[in-house]
Amino acid sequence: MATAIYPGSFDPITNGHIDIVRRAHKLFSKLYIAIVANPNKNSLFTADERVEITMAALAEEGIHGLEVISYHGLLIDCAKLHGADAIVRGLRANSDFEYEFQMALTNRDLASEFESVFFMTAKRYSFLSSSVVKEVCMYGGDISNFVPRSVEEALKSKFLHTNR
Ligand code: PNS
Repeated sequence: MATAIYPGSFDPITNGHIDIVRRAHKLFSKLYIAIVANPNKNSLFTADERVEITMAALAEEGIHGLEVISYHGLLIDCAKLHGADAIVRGLRANSDFEYEFQMALTNRDLASEFESVFFMTAKRYSFLSSSVVKEVCMYGGDISNFVPRSVEEALKSKFLHTNR
C-alpha cells in the first residue's frame, strides 16, 4: 500500500484534522503528518511546539503508528524526501475548494508523481478551523468539543503567557 503525507499548519491540530488522520491512516500503510515551518506563516505556536502538541493529541486519541515531522520550503520536496506517493488534504465547506484546487494543481505542475487525495470532512467539523478555535479560546470560550484536552491546555497556557 502507498505512503501519504498530510501537510498543514496544524496551529494547532483540531478534532477535524484528527478525523482526517484516522481515515487516511486506514487507507495508507505509512502516513506522515507534515507541519510547515515556513517563517512567512504567522503561527501562534512554533513548529517544534506544533509537532509536540500534535504528537500529544494523537497519543491522547489512541492513534499510533504514524510520524509527525516538520518541513521548511516546498511541500513536494518534503514528500520526495519521505518517499510519499500521495498528498492528503481535508475539504470542508465550498470555500476550501479554490485554495485546495490551486495548491493541488501547483503541486502537480511541480512534481506530477504525487497524487493529491481529498477527504471530505465529517459534517460536525465542516466549519471547524484552527483559527476559530484560537479565537474562541483567546476570549475564554469553551473549546472542549473542538480539540483534545492536551491541545486545549496548550492553548490556554500559550494565551496566559502572551499578550494576544
Ligand atoms: O494548513 P494550511 O495552512 O492550509 O496548509 C497549507 C500548506 C502548509 C500545506 C501549504 O501552504 C504548503 O505546502 N506550504 C509549503 C510551501 C509550498 O509547497 N507551496 C507550494 C504549494 S501551493
